[in-house]
Amino acid sequence: MTNADLEKLVDTTDEWITTRTGIKERRIARDMATSDMAVEACKRAMEMAETKGEEIDVLVAATVTPDYKLPSLGCVIQEKLSLPNAVAFDVVSACTGFINGLTIANAYIETGSYKKIMVVGVEKLSTFVNYRDRNTCILFGDGAGAAIFAPSHNGRGVQSTFMKSDGSMREMLWSKSGGAAFPVTEEFNFDGTDKVMMNGSDLFKVAVKEMGNAATEVMQKAGVDSSEISIIIPHQANIRIIEALAKRLKLDMNKVFLNIEKYGNTSAASVPLALDEANRQGRINEGDYVLMVAFGGGLIWGSALIKW
Ligand code: ACO
Repeated sequence: MTNADLEKLVDTTDEWITTRTGIKERRIARDMATSDMAVEACKRAMEMAETKGEEIDVLVAATVTPDYKLPSLGCVIQEKLSLPNAVAFDVVSACTGFINGLTIANAYIETGSYKKIMVVGVEKLSTFVNYRDRNTCILFGDGAGAAIFAPSHNGRGVQSTFMKSDGSMREMLWSKSGGAAFPVTEEFNFDGTDKVMMNGSDLFKVAVKEMGNAATEVMQKAGVDSSEISIIIPHQANIRIIEALAKRLKLDMNKVFLNIEKYGNTSAASVPLALDEANRQGRINEGDYVLMVAFGGGLIWGSALIKW
């Protein structure tokens, strides 16, 4: 879906969307369920990691757009992918979902509870966006990305993680109706409150501040200076948020991986999609410090530092 397509739906322009967000296109999964996208991403991760379904101990599905309210998306993916020895469950942390999943995977591995953990960030936000609201519909897209975590050797792997949330700001980005608080009943008047609702300018400020703090936190924990970071994989929410973050961290923009132009904001899929593209493009080499940082509805934010 291009900006020109959106010009036909709401009062907006390609120029406004491009300059205010950096987004030119987003992907819409018309004939695929959230689980289908996740399965595709997981298959590619398993192929790259030369891992069979039986070897996966845990599947963490990070999403706010599961196929069903019940059961979890993780269990649907487990069946479709055939992961007979795994426990599968969901993590609901919006755009920070993949980093939260990574943090859980890292903790399981450090405690020796499980060995092979697949984390998939996946969203079908096109079902969740109000295409009459120009403040939100221009931002979001569908996608999936996955990674497999296992015990590392020679000091490589996850060096540090950081997670923080503040529920008092939850109404900056939320969906009011459709849950148990305001259920969609026969009398429900569809007014857009079951879709994404957002206060963009307030979110913008919190995002820059807290993504900056989260990134600094993981570098300090690992004793790594920002000059040692080879590549930063930020949540792709808005090019201006990313530029402000890079400035705050004193990191050159050529160290920042960007694909927002093609996908828009894919929430939990954003970081693993960018990580995968950076990796497949040869932008990440053995021994590189890779910094990932995200921020999203909750509000919840987090970061992870990996030695590749
Ligand atoms: N097309 C044209 N005009 C628009 C559009 C649009 N699609 N959307 C809003 N406008 C108008 C507004 O109505 C407003 O008009 P007014 O001044 O007459 O009232 C004007 O543009 C400016 O609106 P702002 O909201 O102040 O614009 P801003 O520069 O803040 O950009 C944006 C809006 C892009 C949403 C920005 O605030 C943003 O990216 N915020 C972060 C939100 C985000 O990324 N949320 C996703 C989840 S959280 C996360 O992932 C970080």
